[in-house]
Amino acid sequence: MARIFRIDSPTARHLECFYEEGYVAFPDLFADEARQGFVDELMHLRPVEDFFKKSDAELRELGKPYRLSVKPWNDKGPWADGLFDAPFVRSILRKILGESYHFCHSSLAVSIRGAAGIRFHQDHHHWFHAHPVNRNQRDRWYIQMLYYPNGFSRGDGSLSILAGSQKASPLEFPADRLSRGDFGPFRRVDLELPPGSVVVLNARAFHGVSQKPVNSTQRYRLFSNYIFKEAGPPHLNTQEIPQRWLHGVSGHRKQIFDRRSYTEGCWDGGEKLKSCSARCW
Ligand SMILES: [Fe+2]
Repeated sequence: MARIFRIDSPTARHLECFYEEGYVAFPDLFADEARQGFVDELMHLRPVEDFFKKSDAELRELGKPYRLSVKPWNDKGPWADGLFDAPFVRSILRKILGESYHFCHSSLAVSIRGAAGIRFHQDHHHWFHAHPVNRNQRDRWYIQMLYYPNGFSRGDGSLSILAGSQKASPLEFPADRLSRGDFGPFRRVDLELPPGSVVVLNARAFHGVSQKPVNSTQRYRLFSNYIFKEAGPPHLNTQEIPQRWLHGVSGHRKQIFDRRSYTEGCWDGGEKLKSCSARCW
């Protein structure tokens, strides 16, 4: 397969930006063939084709009207599969997370005109549960690789980030404070990115998404999110790894998939936490 990204590794400046701001954006990072291949692949997925066939009335009946969300997203074609371990992905994750990290889960979203925005939030799920397992994991890395194969304009399904907010305790910023626009010392950055862009986000950084206006010039916005975390116990979204991903894999993929998935009661005792190693290899 042709290379996916134009560069194989972030620069020191990219990493400096990530540590300081809680994110780093890579505009137009996909190579042309990969960007087009990824778009074609996504547009031919059954759930996506079905979504585009829905009537307006049917779209309104969805839990999140005008947005298709697939999570976990397991039905991947070759381009999406390559996002597990493209050289750029491996390089930036290794530089941030070190050698020992796991794949957590991935998702796919398609937003069309009329899709609602998403308020400012964090995605570091260990903060959302008071169980001792989660308390122990709160300060560990949880990284989101955000892919925008057809990009977005500011105010049109665009990503906003409170730069530097990964340094704050989530407890300081309850939803009502954020909804008032009180961001404390943190600067709101409203991104605008061309097709083929990537954002690497510290999940501790507050971020949100603008609505997609009904008169948007972009018919739909494609988005995929691959999440990786430091080796450790699962959180609620740590998905089960499909068996087909495990056949014959070795090396890096074996490492990132060889972890426990979330199961009910798994935080209550080791005996309920089935090891992927025991189950799959
Ligand atoms: Fe999020």
